[in-house]
Amino acid sequence: ASEIKPQKARRVYIETYGCQMNVSDSELMAGILTRSGYEMVDQLESADVVLVNTCAIRENAEEKVLNRLKHLNHRKRRQPNLVLGVCGCMAQHIKTKILDAAPYVDLVMGPDSYRSLPRAIQSMTTGDPFLGLKLDKSEDYADVAPVRKEGVRAWLTIQRGCDKMCTFCIVPFVRGRERSIPMHLLIDDVKRLVHEGFKEVVLLGQTVNSYYDGEKSPLYPPLTKGEAKRRGGDFGDLLVAMNEVEGLERVRFTSPHPSDATEPLIEAMATCDKVCKQMHLPLQSGSTKVLKAMRRTYTAEEYRELVARMRERIPNLSISTDVIVGFCGETEEDFMETCDLMAEIRYDAAFMFKYSAREGTLAYKTLNDDVSEEEKGRRLREIIELQERISHEINQALVGKIVAVLAEGESRRDAEHYHGKTDSFKTTVFPKGDSNVGELVRVKVESATAHTLLGEIVA
Ligand code: 5AD
Repeated sequence: ASEIKPQKARRVYIETYGCQMNVSDSELMAGILTRSGYEMVDQLESADVVLVNTCAIRENAEEKVLNRLKHLNHRKRRQPNLVLGVCGCMAQHIKTKILDAAPYVDLVMGPDSYRSLPRAIQSMTTGDPFLGLKLDKSEDYADVAPVRKEGVRAWLTIQRGCDKMCTFCIVPFVRGRERSIPMHLLIDDVKRLVHEGFKEVVLLGQTVNSYYDGEKSPLYPPLTKGEAKRRGGDFGDLLVAMNEVEGLERVRFTSPHPSDATEPLIEAMATCDKVCKQMHLPLQSGSTKVLKAMRRTYTAEEYRELVARMRERIPNLSISTDVIVGFCGETEEDFMETCDLMAEIRYDAAFMFKYSAREGTLAYKTLNDDVSEEEKGRRLREIIELQERISHEINQALVGKIVAVLAEGESRRDAEHYHGKTDSFKTTVFPKGDSNVGELVRVKVESATAHTLLGEIVA
């Protein structure tokens, strides 16, 4: 391969912001850099290249990075050879505007440019910043072996980009068109991960359940579902195939889109024992009017029916969600519909956000960001309070029950305890006893908060 060797030993530190996809992309960047002879380090202090992998989903995600860059510039003053790079979604979003705000940045690279990282770092002697801002609808990094930290849970990107075009969302603009990685490569990846000691795999994609093994790309004419089936498989088929990988204990995925929650997916979740009975199903709003303005492609009623159908087929299904409050045109009644739907569905957990207008999106261009900041804050506090109460009640109901927990590591607060996740993705803390990391143990729940279960191992 066309590997570029660094002129001298270069130690790289990657700092990651945002979602799991970014965590996975950082592992990919580490893979690209190590195969070109760079060394990855865990400490900023020992690095001569610092890459900040950024998020653009909300304005505050970008503000956080801009502040961080100022701080990193102090270090650069003391260490003039330090290469400072801004990578990922924010780089792709604001492009060279990063250089206006932070002229000391040496490279700006979007999610489809990581192959150029070794070349970009090498070119730093020229003085000009390196820009890698082209989106490439065929880039899937399928040949790159990510460098992961040892552990129990591995993130596996199965799809990049997004074709959904929700009006509030910047993702399609910063990650480009949807593309899936061929299934046979993913199966090989998972076998390798199991061999390396991982017990759980989390399949990642922006709309992970629209995955399919075939040429679904703007380069090819659109396929009907039937044609896709003949060429390869859909997300349900992928889950079935993952379920057959020997030595793997658990499979999860995030984040699915409700409109792609097809029968084969539900069937695979219901029947595959390794597939966790847990679904993160972003709702965004409980008002059909708002969902329409968001172009979510489902109504509140359809979402409600989907949840009912899934719960019927998958007993004890744990469901979490994402909700945005204060989207353009959201009235008090719309907001109440969101509250009502959340109270009705009773999610195990929810991530809740104030709407943040993102330049480039359709909502930014054509809709009025007309809910005041103050009102957004009030609505957010209200649904957080509602959800905390529900999460707490759901977890309280687990007290006295036995849950299966995959031990992940020592509890931060107490070295005599392990923490791990239940099948339903609830953090559980328990005394180690003679269990080991990577072991699936049975834990009797003794107490619970809205976010954590505490318990004891039982035989
Ligand atoms: N403002 C607020 N929240 C947003 N999200 C995506 N875009 C925005 C935005 N412009 C939220 C959605 C999504 C989650 C990852 O972030 O709820 O599901």
